[in-house]
Amino acid sequence: MTEWIIEGGVPLCGTVPVQGSKNAVLPILAATVLSQSPSEIHGVPNLKDVHVMVEILRALGMEVTFDVERQTIWVDPHGLSNGEVPEALMSQMRSSIFLMGPLCARLGRAVLSQPGGCSIGTRPIDLHLKAMRALGVRIARENARLICQCGHLRAATILLDYPSVGATENALMAAVLADGVSTIFNAAREPEVVDLEHFLVKMGAQIEGIGTDTLTIRGVSQLHGVVYDVIADRIVVGTLAVYAAITRGSVRLTHIGPEHLLAVTDKLQETGSTVVTDGTDLLIRAQDRPKAIERLETAPYPGFPTDMQACMMALLAIADGVSVIVENVFEDRFKHVPELNRMGAHIWTDLKTAVVRGVPHLTGAQLEADDLRGAAALIGAGLAASGTTIVRDAGHVDRGYADWVDLLGRLGARVKRRDP
Ligand code: EPZ
Repeated sequence: MTEWIIEGGVPLCGTVPVQGSKNAVLPILAATVLSQSPSEIHGVPNLKDVHVMVEILRALGMEVTFDVERQTIWVDPHGLSNGEVPEALMSQMRSSIFLMGPLCARLGRAVLSQPGGCSIGTRPIDLHLKAMRALGVRIARENARLICQCGHLRAATILLDYPSVGATENALMAAVLADGVSTIFNAAREPEVVDLEHFLVKMGAQIEGIGTDTLTIRGVSQLHGVVYDVIADRIVVGTLAVYAAITRGSVRLTHIGPEHLLAVTDKLQETGSTVVTDGTDLLIRAQDRPKAIERLETAPYPGFPTDMQACMMALLAIADGVSVIVENVFEDRFKHVPELNRMGAHIWTDLKTAVVRGVPHLTGAQLEADDLRGAAALIGAGLAASGTTIVRDAGHVDRGYADWVDLLGRLGARVKRRDP
């Protein structure tokens, strides 16, 4: 277990750049399976999940180089020959399920594990499977493995019962090489999905409706490699913005896409923070105790992102008043609540609703992190709390936040990490 040791009470101040988006770079790396020639991808963050995806692409036969210092990955797909994703790698990262679409499109075959759920819910893949079957993929289950086979994919009309990010990405990455014109209705519109759409178009795909919930894809015979810059990670931006607010600091985040985070900056302003967009920079300043938010509901983009729910709850835990948070996207994403209550918070939950009665102060404690964004929230609470907070973490933070101790240190935070 890694331990994050936080000395609270220091306002975060300063200017830092924000890493590339984990949830954009992972599907983009999967999409390199589709191309006939090499790609070069910039803005790649040094994250555990990215290293797992690199290992998966290598296991498929592709040549991959990751220069962590230069945040650049080179992928040469010429050696692609194997459509089987090793179970040991899939179990480390459930989102490797969106290799299904590109492998079926490129090789006509994919063998993956039924991805486990994680601590935020069961995370079924029924919508992924529905989309693949519509495109002509035959799927058999053998033990916990999914055996996917198809001839040349055929165009389809796909209606997603829910605007699933991963299912939209899987369907997209299959349809771009299918015969004919496919349509995806109720597609996800998250900025990370849009970044994938831009990447695919740059590779030669024909996609209309980019950024909307209706995508029309005219299949092509092949795609080529490209040089591509990944968007900034809007959840890391939001996390750092909450850290600035919860410590009553003043932080400038550079080279981000402020328009990707309007729902979060809107709610931060509602708590009384000053949030200013300056070109591609975001400035966050807070001087007083945050105000409560009467009702905050998570929703698909452009609604309030579920990945920011835990961090926002940490901020509202010290707000002046009672806030209600409704988690509509995942059914089990309140694991951080008992840990916040151990710090003196007053939070009560029932199914998907949390009632947060703000307290003036939190007190440092020994905490257990159970998922990536919950871990980030507990670190944020520790930054605000009096005394020392220790967050025990089974590697969650390293999956989503690159060089976190160094970055927070540059903002004046007193955070150390102790590895086993
Ligand atoms: C992506 O997960 C992100 N992960 C998640 O970020 C993010 O929270 C989520 O989208 C929502 O924005 C990556 O992009 C790698 P979904 P994904 O399919 O694709 C249900 C993080 O912390 N559903 O949009 O798995 C599902 O159970 C992670 O960075 C089905 O029912 O999310 C959930 O309730 C966490 N059937 C809802 O849809 C399906 O076939 C949203 O899931 C697929 C999903």
